[in-house]
This record gives sequence, structure tokens and C-alpha cells, in this order.
Amino acid sequence: MQIDVIPCVNESRYDEFINKTVIAVDVLRATSTIVTALSNGCKGIIPVETVCQAKNLQENGDLLAGERYCKKITGFDLGNSPFEFMTPEIEGKRIVMTTTNGTRALHKSGKATYILAGAMLNAAACADAVLKLKKDIVILCAGTKDEFSLEDGLCAGLIIEETKRRIELSELNDFAMAMNSAFLHNQGRIEEAILQCSNGKRLCKMGLKEDVLYCAKMNFINTVPFLSGDVMIPYEF
Ligand code: MLT
Repeated sequence: MQIDVIPCVNESRYDEFINKTVIAVDVLRATSTIVTALSNGCKGIIPVETVCQAKNLQENGDLLAGERYCKKITGFDLGNSPFEFMTPEIEGKRIVMTTTNGTRALHKSGKATYILAGAMLNAAACADAVLKLKKDIVILCAGTKDEFSLEDGLCAGLIIEETKRRIELSELNDFAMAMNSAFLHNQGRIEEAILQCSNGKRLCKMGLKEDVLYCAKMNFINTVPFLSGDVMIPYEF
């Protein structure tokens, strides 16, 4: 089994995903939030790219969620903080979500056979899921506005490490090797490393340090969001 890691959305090509399992990763904060929502009883998340698409897809009973510039979109029910997705209000609800980078990465993965959402929170569970799906793997780091974000790379490195603990991997691309090394170098200080990344610093400046610390938790949740049609639902092991 091979694992490739792609540093950010604009460095990916659609044909790289054919016949693969793609894990889209946006640690701060979209995929961490999606994992949290589905583990707290949300029925499904529909990831979309624009505010307009979100409004058009909303059906009776659905909630709208998302951010622009890390702030809740005007008129939406929820923003993009994982803590907003731990309440009874989301139980049994479908949520239509748009974020700046995370939902874009999920869309870019469209040609893959299977599409999962990965985060620090569910890295070990992602490793379990990809082994069941039996395809080569691409980890697509969402990045931030077409630039690589280190927290996504560290998460890719953790997913690789968890997968290596389970099977012998046949091949890693160069960036996957680098991210696995970066994770191993930082594994005893992941919180600090993520607080020091530019997105970590930016969210802290906005008063969202608790979000960053939560998103830095490793292997905390067993839920793996899995795209079925246009809805992310928990993968059934
Ligand atoms: C994104 O998708 O760009 C991020 O999740 C932004 C955020 O932290 O709200």
C-alpha cells in the first residue's frame, strides 16, 4: 500500500485521486469540526464550496454552518468551532457546511474511489479505515489559501505513523516521508507545535486558543467521516 501526501489543494491534480482513498485534512479547523459533529450525533454533513450553494442545498430541518475569515457567516446557524458541534441541537440534523479551505479540499478529492475526512483527533481511526478500504492512499492537506499549513502536514505524518504501526507500507512519496519525519520530531510537543503554526497563532489572536488545543488532541475520536454521495456520514467499520 502506497501513501502520497499533497501539501495543499492547488498542488493536486484530479487524476492523482483515481482509484485511491483520499483523506482530506484541515486540522484548523474544518475536518476537526466535521469529525466532532459526526461523533456527537449529527446525521450528516454536506460540504460545499460557496455560501450560495449552502443556502440552495438547505432543506427543511437542515442547519447551515461555516466560516469566512474564521468567523461565522452572517445568517448561518453555526460557525466552524468544534465546540459548537458538541451540543444536543445538532443531534439527528443534517448540516450544510462551507469553509474557506477544508470543504474545498473535500471537493477537489471528487475523483477518488473513497473520500474521508482526517484530523489529529481521528488519525488512528483513519488508519483503521484505509486498511479496510484496501486502496492506495492520498492525504490531501487543505492548507490555507493555496499555501501549505504545517498542522495539516503533522497530521498527515501521524496518519502515516498509525498506518505503519498496522502494516508495512510499500512506498511513501517524498513529501509523505518529510511529514512523517516532522511528526516524529514533534510528537512529544504537538500542542506547542500547532500553537506555533501560523494558523494556530492566528486563531489564538482571535481568542480561539481552546479550539487549537482541542484540534491538537491525537487519536481522541474513533469516528471517520466518509463521503457517501454528497453527504459525509460516519464510516461503518
Ligand atoms: C478552513 O476551512 O479554511 C478553516 O477551517 C478555517 C477556520 O479555521 O475556520
